[in-house]
Amino acid sequence: MKPPTTTATFCLNQFNGRRYFLRYLAGGAIAALSVGYLRPAQSLEASLEELCSAFPLNSRCKDYLPGVQATDVKGQPVAVDQLLTGAQPGSRIAVKGLADPAIGYLVVTDGPKIAEYAIGTTCTHLGCTVAWKPEQKRFVCPCHGSQYDDQGRVVQGPARRPLGLLTVVVKQNQVRLVSRTPAIDPR
Ligand code: FES
Repeated sequence: MKPPTTTATFCLNQFNGRRYFLRYLAGGAIAALSVGYLRPAQSLEASLEELCSAFPLNSRCKDYLPGVQATDVKGQPVAVDQLLTGAQPGSRIAVKGLADPAIGYLVVTDGPKIAEYAIGTTCTHLGCTVAWKPEQKRFVCPCHGSQYDDQGRVVQGPARRPLGLLTVVVKQNQVRLVSRTPAIDPR
């Protein structure tokens, strides 16, 4: 049989209920405040990344380095001045930094300068990694023989679509790789 509820027990239950309710409210308020503080910081970072990868010369991007720093194939950070010393216009230089594609090829243009795009190495047929063959000026896929010209356009199937491009930002003597298609496709 259920014991009779005394006035004291009833008051105690009421008190505990209110205490938990207030604690619940306080927890909710703290969480809401935290989200409120964090969200603007995250969205500011995301919008700066978006802005500065597309328009690196924008005045808001003066100190902002978008993307990830490119390294050579041995994992050493690429320094622009060293890279361009003796670089021949038209050459393609393998760099790493992004997860996908793991390797991209920088394009050296007249100047010499580093182009604002790099050529991805994922074959558009079935995803093997293509290799740059400087003597042929082509990217060649080892899996089923697709070939691409020095801008990544298909010259031999079975691939039908060109190689993907990455955005390159050259800043503070660094090469920054951004995993997005450049604003202007040079092809
Ligand atoms: S995956 Fe490159 S040709 Fe098939």
